[in-house]
Amino acid sequence: MMLKGRHILVTGAARGLGAEIARGLAGHGARLILADIAEDTGRSTAEALGASFHRVDLGDPASITELGEAVAAETGGALHGLVNNGAIATGIGGIGFEDIEIDSWDLVQRVNVRGTWLMTRAAAPMLRVSGSGRVVNVASDTALWGAPNLLSYVASKGAAIAMTRSLARELGPDRVGVTAVAPGILTTESTDYVPEARHRHYAEGRAVPGPQHPGEITDTIAFLLSEGALTLTGQVLPVNNGFVFN
Ligand SMILES: NC(=O)c1ccc[n+]([C@@H]2O[C@H](COP(=O)([O-])OP(=O)(O)OC[C@H]3O[C@@H](n4cnc5c(N)ncnc54)[C@H](O)[C@@H]3O)[C@@H](O)[C@H]2O)c1
Repeated sequence: MMLKGRHILVTGAARGLGAEIARGLAGHGARLILADIAEDTGRSTAEALGASFHRVDLGDPASITELGEAVAAETGGALHGLVNNGAIATGIGGIGFEDIEIDSWDLVQRVNVRGTWLMTRAAAPMLRVSGSGRVVNVASDTALWGAPNLLSYVASKGAAIAMTRSLARELGPDRVGVTAVAPGILTTESTDYVPEARHRHYAEGRAVPGPQHPGEITDTIAFLLSEGALTLTGQVLPVNNGFVFN
């Protein structure tokens, strides 16, 4: 029960890794607030966990501000943790860098990069008030090993890692810790479209061979959100069963 009584906001929590993170954090006693653009799925995920749910479009600054206000009202203005998990994470691979559409590139950066910045900005006052605020940015190890044919996504996840480091320095004086996790390919709905060869490349390249279920990384995220994790601020943890080492 590392997170007992701690208010934690998870974005992109309707399905996939975000929903699994929410399940894992609930098991550690967190008081959860879930947010996603997918309203119906998000509400049913939240209901199953006894969490609250708010719709947010991470591509829309006004929507993020509204979410911040709702979270402040719900928590009394003290938030212990933010998991920046929501992102455009599917359907954008398998395209060479010369063939990416400008609109598609811009959408990925708007949601994944600007959304992470604005969400952190909206949460920051509440994270400071809590006295032990933690931010975990969900990056991807594709930005560490240089996955081909996925450039808009890889660029956005590289930005998440870079922002983690700068935000750690800006928020550190207020004892708010900021870390990133970099999973490899997981067995989530979002990777169903990825060719079998890429799944096999990962499964065979891991120090712990085989596929990786999203539930395998949630204990690490729970620890990063705990009071004891401040020493790791600014770090990126490749939670990929040893596919790449940092
Ligand atoms: N699944 C993997 O293999 C894998 C590997 C490494 C990193 N990740 C990261 O994990 C996170 C979750 O990915 P996933 O695989 O579960 O993908 P997913 O597509 O299943 O989930 C992403 C969630 O974000 C939500 N979302 C998308 N656009 C949004 C917006 N504009 N506003 C609010 N919510 C929005 C979606 O509705 C969805 O619920 C992402 O940050 C992804 O980059 C996933």
